[in-house]
Amino acid sequence: MKGFSTRAIHAATRAPAVDQQPNAVPIYQSVTFSSQNSDELADVLNARRPGYAYSRIDNPTSAALAQAVAELEGAKAGFAFATGMAAIHATFLSLLRAGDRIVATHVMYGSTRSLLTRVLGGLGIRTEFVDPSDLAAVERALAGSATRVLYVETVSNPTIVVSDVAALADLAHRHGATLVVDNTFASPYLCRPVELGADLVVESGTKYLSGHSDVMAGIVCGSPALIEKVRAIATDTGASLAPLAAFLVLRGLPTLALRMERHSASASALADWLERQPGVDRVYHPALASHPQHETARRQLAAGGGMFALELAGGRGAGRAFIDALTVPERTASLGSIHTIVAHPASTTHRQLKEAELVEAGVVPGLLRFSIGLEDVEDLRLDFEQALESARSVSASRRVAIGAAATP
Ligand SMILES: Cc1ncc(COP(=O)(O)O)c(C=O)c1O
Repeated sequence: MKGFSTRAIHAATRAPAVDQQPNAVPIYQSVTFSSQNSDELADVLNARRPGYAYSRIDNPTSAALAQAVAELEGAKAGFAFATGMAAIHATFLSLLRAGDRIVATHVMYGSTRSLLTRVLGGLGIRTEFVDPSDLAAVERALAGSATRVLYVETVSNPTIVVSDVAALADLAHRHGATLVVDNTFASPYLCRPVELGADLVVESGTKYLSGHSDVMAGIVCGSPALIEKVRAIATDTGASLAPLAAFLVLRGLPTLALRMERHSASASALADWLERQPGVDRVYHPALASHPQHETARRQLAAGGGMFALELAGGRGAGRAFIDALTVPERTASLGSIHTIVAHPASTTHRQLKEAELVEAGVVPGLLRFSIGLEDVEDLRLDFEQALESARSVSASRRVAIGAAATP
């Protein structure tokens, strides 16, 4: 008989054989997967046969998530990462070498811009920023010099610019570039960029896919050939998704449609109401007729989505008063959650940008970004109403103070 420790190790790590199909994907909380013999292990590690050996390279729960998201995105393959930024980083590294050039949207998530300028810029990869809604400007940028990647967000963070993915795919391909689209704000329920011609779609699974602000993840989807290149980078850089996190994102997917419908309906109603309130200068939501890309949004998005941006007449001071008076939303940095979240991009999500970069991205000092959650919409409207009142009184007292100071 073997010794106690040997028996304990074998007894406690023997995975049960289950004949019936489980109705949730099991959490394969194991770093290693043993092969029958060394030939099998070598074949698995060299991708000559499907299988698992080491969870940084691949894990069944994380692979199930990647495959599920790929299916929803209308793509053939996917790979899951520890965060959205890890997914975007590995995607760029799989496509670019020193000396290569990217053309990218000038409105995008702050960390992605920082990744492009500071991290990839430091490695000799140059980025030219363009307005993605100006197709002539995109074409000029692509024609200007050989371009490896065109990068846009379906709906931009934070100014809600909607990119015409089909038109951009056509331009990218005519100029020999790969189109990569960040679909985080839309989710595959509202838009499927691969079906519109994009080569790769990246998404932060931290947001709508999981939907509950309790897990971080990132996914890249595209053709098997492009995803193999992404996987190779992931193997060597190591930001693969852990199985427990994959399970939590998987748990969000079946309710994605329900949540996106509710997020979209509430955000559309609030945006429409806010646009008519005194003290509100601009509201940017794709479902509003006043949105500059409203027609593109109607063609491309199944609904308006849960995100909108707002400019108050009183600028930064009014914005701060408005945010601080709110009682239902959370004042924090993320989005795509059960909670309504309010952020001041210039000081939070886009804090890495220099003043000129903020101006170029349209992130004016008074811009506020909302991710509308799943709360009762009337509770949110009433809360916005009282917060707008606070913002208006701050603006009014500021006007009085300026008037008094100007009096000789
Ligand atoms: C549009 C967009 N892309 C990517 C990311 C990065 O995702 P993560 O925070 O999961 O790394 C974010 C984060 O807010 C985002 O808003």
